[in-house]
Amino acid sequence: MKHRTKYSVIAGLTRNPLKNVNPFLGILFLMLLLSCDKQTSDPLDKKVNDLLSQMTLEEKIGQMNQISGYGYNEDMAGQIKAGAIGSILNEVDAETVNALQKAAVEGSRLGIPILFSRDVIHGFKTIFPVPLGQAASWNPQVVENGGRVAAVEAASVGIRWTFAPMIDISRDQRWGRIVESLGEDPYLTSVLGAAMIKGFQGDSLNDPTSIAACAKHFAGYGAAEGGRDYNASIISTEQLRNTYLPPFKAAVEAGVATFMVSFNEINGIPSSGNEYLVKQILRNDWGYNGLVVSDWNSVGEMVPHGYVKDLSEAAEAAVKATVDMDMENHAFLPYLAQLVKDGKVKEADIDNAVRRILKLKFQLGLFENPYVEIKESVFYAEDHLAKAKEAAIESVILLKNENNVLPLSDKIKSIAVTGPLADAPHDQMGTWVFDGDKTHTITPLAALRAEYGSQLKINYAPGLNFSRDLDKKQFAQAVAAARASDVVLFFAGEESIFSGEAHSRADISLPGAQKELLTELAKTGKPIVLIIMAGRAIEIGKELPLVDTYLFSFHPGTMGGPALTDLIFGKAVPSGKLPVTYPKMVGQTPIYYNHKNTGRPAGDNLPTVENIPLEAGQVSLGCSSYYMDAGKDPLFPFGYGLSYTTFEYSDLKLSATELTKNDRLTVSCVVKNTGKVAGAEVVQLYIRDLVGSITRPVKELKAFDKVTLQPGEAKTVEFTLTTDALKFWNEKDREILEPGDFDLWVGTNSAEGLKSSFVLK
Ligand code: BGC
Repeated sequence: MKHRTKYSVIAGLTRNPLKNVNPFLGILFLMLLLSCDKQTSDPLDKKVNDLLSQMTLEEKIGQMNQISGYGYNEDMAGQIKAGAIGSILNEVDAETVNALQKAAVEGSRLGIPILFSRDVIHGFKTIFPVPLGQAASWNPQVVENGGRVAAVEAASVGIRWTFAPMIDISRDQRWGRIVESLGEDPYLTSVLGAAMIKGFQGDSLNDPTSIAACAKHFAGYGAAEGGRDYNASIISTEQLRNTYLPPFKAAVEAGVATFMVSFNEINGIPSSGNEYLVKQILRNDWGYNGLVVSDWNSVGEMVPHGYVKDLSEAAEAAVKATVDMDMENHAFLPYLAQLVKDGKVKEADIDNAVRRILKLKFQLGLFENPYVEIKESVFYAEDHLAKAKEAAIESVILLKNENNVLPLSDKIKSIAVTGPLADAPHDQMGTWVFDGDKTHTITPLAALRAEYGSQLKINYAPGLNFSRDLDKKQFAQAVAAARASDVVLFFAGEESIFSGEAHSRADISLPGAQKELLTELAKTGKPIVLIIMAGRAIEIGKELPLVDTYLFSFHPGTMGGPALTDLIFGKAVPSGKLPVTYPKMVGQTPIYYNHKNTGRPAGDNLPTVENIPLEAGQVSLGCSSYYMDAGKDPLFPFGYGLSYTTFEYSDLKLSATELTKNDRLTVSCVVKNTGKVAGAEVVQLYIRDLVGSITRPVKELKAFDKVTLQPGEAKTVEFTLTTDALKFWNEKDREILEPGDFDLWVGTNSAEGLKSSFVLK
């Protein structure tokens, strides 16, 4: 039992920051704050307020209106001139952007520029691996590079706002949008989300190559019931604070310019009208004063949710929750003026929303430089392709490599290249690709032929034309190619349409006849390397014994082919680690490593369906928490990934075994490359808080570092933890630090590691 009363401290801001303040002082403080807002000395705020003071109510509401573009046309230009549009999404051509911008700057009464936006999720033209793949790199620099390249390319056509990063904690492989996320862990997502924001926004928003980032979808979207998109999320206060909100708080700390609310409801309240979430937590508690945009029609969708009766009520609820911009809801423009006149919405709330929108436009330099300079194309620049290749290499996870089939040895003289993803330039790019051109994609087949075609016999026979293909008539050719080769490279997976928004699956195994094709290939007795390109962890338990090697590459983007070729031939060494727990069967989902323990945790050597005696007694299996057919463990744990070399961990040292609340704990460990090639290892630090006033997860990632080691080289890896890392939110919505015992591990994944412990006094 901990001494809660002695040292439990409220470490964060509570729901009511003025609760314990003398009421008179509180009122004085509030008055001061309000007057500061109006008579600000900040020159930027002054510009914003000056402009705002010249605007009619209709013009203000116009700034809050975002519509989807469809090329230049007089109707849209007319609306812009009338001051009825503040932002346009989906225009991707510099000339159209400039023509529409001209209507705003030269044709509207106040000349306020339009903010152009687009979903630039994992690249504009040069496509990087899907976000979940980038997360597998566990390398913030890789993720930052992805954001930077995307920003440079998108900004070159006038796009100055992207709707990324998506930082919804995602633990259900059925959910199609897991592919857009950075995985299941709050800490990993926080670090990588901040890196992506840095990449998009650069050093200053004012730089013409910077684009505003958007932390989305606020919040709890990844908890959609059953992995069914748009569904209700039921999340306790404790889970919301400890699991779903940390990446968003980290995004605020990283200076993210905008936020997007989510489609879903949390505990009965849709995010688009959720005052507790947006106004209280995001704005009041975290002090975020940037732009919040709705999701596409998410305000209007509060009607079918059954939260409001019509669009007018929807607009009212959204503005009250401090949602500033209406993305394609068509709710603000027609209803807000009347709502203000009826006294249902305060004009002061409209003013605050418009201040945030104008401020961002000033920060982006749009008033000084509204037009995009049409220059030589930066698309697919050499450096962009090189960074995309690096990202693809670091995103690939080696999950099995029996008999060290990879890297392929010099003795290999012929390879069979088969499977529906070996030469699928469109699908290799993955979901949320609107602008990437498949003719620029280099597929594995193309890269293998280009680099090894003159030295090796490459026998290509796809076997299936696409992932869903059920037609087996090309099986014989694929099997013949396998027979004629020293090794089989089987490129399997999902088409890009199988993941992304509204693309959930109830069966997450290989689609079409791929399992049958793999079975036929295995009958040849040739070594098989399975390479899966997909947007989620694919159920593979039954097929895994058929293959020697398993490389999981997600959808690796434009440069996926060259990246995989380097990995297959050992010019590059795999270093990716799972950013999600990999289930054995879909029935195990949602599955994640930092779960709670239950009162009856499962031990080892559990009876399973194969060995339970007939008519066994109801309690004879031991009554613990596991699946009789899948056991208690996933196929691969979170953080798992192999290399062509091996790493040895030793000398775990803690600077202290007793801490007080102001101490720092230094943790060090020696990691040695014990193999024959250089490689990179992601060193992971986990803790467990053994007893809590609310129960604590069995493990929590608190730090990681990716280190490169030459053969035989050893490095001391050091981490410093402050006691902030030990705090958690309780069921009363308080962030607390509780004294007690902690276990700590440093290791190669969430299931293995050197163990130590310490006490917080
Ligand atoms: C998605 C968002 C996206 C928006 C704009 C919505 O359907 O949920 O993530 O940014 O569309 O395209």
